[in-house]
Amino acid sequence: MTDFDTVLNRHGTGSSKWSRYPDNVLPMWVADMDFPAAPEIIAALNERLQHPVLGYGIARTELRDQIVADMAEKYGWAITREDIVFLPGVEPGFNMALKAMLAPGDSVTVQTPMYRPILNAPGHWGLVRQDAALMPSSSGWVMDEASFGEKLALSKALLFCNPHNPTGKVFTQAELEHIASLCQSRDALIISDEIHCDLLLDGRQHIPIATTSADAADRTITLMAASKTYNIAGLKTAFAIIQNPDIRERFAASRLGMVDSVNILGLEATLAAFRSAGAWKTDLLAYLQSNRDFLMGELANRFPGIRCIAPEGTFLAWLDCSDLKLAPNAQSFFLDHGKVAFSAGSEFGTAYDQYVRLNFGCPRAILEEGLHRMATALSHV
Ligand SMILES: Cc1ncc(COP(=O)(O)O)c(C=O)c1O
Repeated sequence: MTDFDTVLNRHGTGSSKWSRYPDNVLPMWVADMDFPAAPEIIAALNERLQHPVLGYGIARTELRDQIVADMAEKYGWAITREDIVFLPGVEPGFNMALKAMLAPGDSVTVQTPMYRPILNAPGHWGLVRQDAALMPSSSGWVMDEASFGEKLALSKALLFCNPHNPTGKVFTQAELEHIASLCQSRDALIISDEIHCDLLLDGRQHIPIATTSADAADRTITLMAASKTYNIAGLKTAFAIIQNPDIRERFAASRLGMVDSVNILGLEATLAAFRSAGAWKTDLLAYLQSNRDFLMGELANRFPGIRCIAPEGTFLAWLDCSDLKLAPNAQSFFLDHGKVAFSAGSEFGTAYDQYVRLNFGCPRAILEEGLHRMATALSHV
């Protein structure tokens, strides 16, 4: 069993997560886990560094073949090597997609609350964002059908996120088929951010929206990476899968000298992750699931004023603190009074300043400390 319990000191390592706040603040914000990368990845990086030339990189055929094999094995998805476009990140990927395929003034639908770089992306390209809210329900997060249909009818594209950040919702086959068929009837492009696709809990299986029909395959730009699952986001490597050759060509042309080639070590790490770190991933998912269950238990027992629908995937929990009416907002409240830094709800949409996003991708001891700091903060109310 892999050790995910050991707390590593990340101060002084150039970690964005551990540098934003003073040292007495516990960071539980950005989607970066406090776990070491799988030993197979570290070994592959060390091996590559035995060759001392580190010039510009290009994805080796082995990596393309590994991704083709992975998509077939994991999702029954038949893609070709040529369908894959390597990128230095998923965020550049969805921005390139919007730039390539839409014109200023066009609308794009997103489901709120939503990861901030997705919320901001349409504005970078003069596009109009149409927000369709996900709603809490007794059966989890659900779409408001009427509002979603209305927004999509105005839009040239859906900028989709599955598993969903920040709620941790994993869309079902039926939901995905429904969304894809609405996009077909509106002739809307689907840009699908599936960066969290390997982080499904409770034995759930990820379903790429592109696999729901031949039409969906033809209108979807899927964005994936090993970066979240294997905690190697600092290596800046991701990829798009685009089966429609016209869309792929336009997408690739939108690099425009701003989106460069990929980090040579990131390519090696991605290959090692997909080829050799499967057992590590299985252990990680078990650990994340037990952290999620522990968190949900603690919230129910110790924080009755906070609501949370158990995330079905990711290592992120979306906490609704509205009943507590925290001032000036939930994030600042916990930061000021508990010295624990969550992501602010307002980053995910204007209606959410009484929410925070908590990152439970950490050793249990850090999660316990974070909850202790939350309780300390609330004892001041
Ligand atoms: C949904 C989602 N998309 C994209 C990203 C960023 O991806 P990248 O670092 O590859 O640009 C994140 C990071 O948290 C994310 O959660």
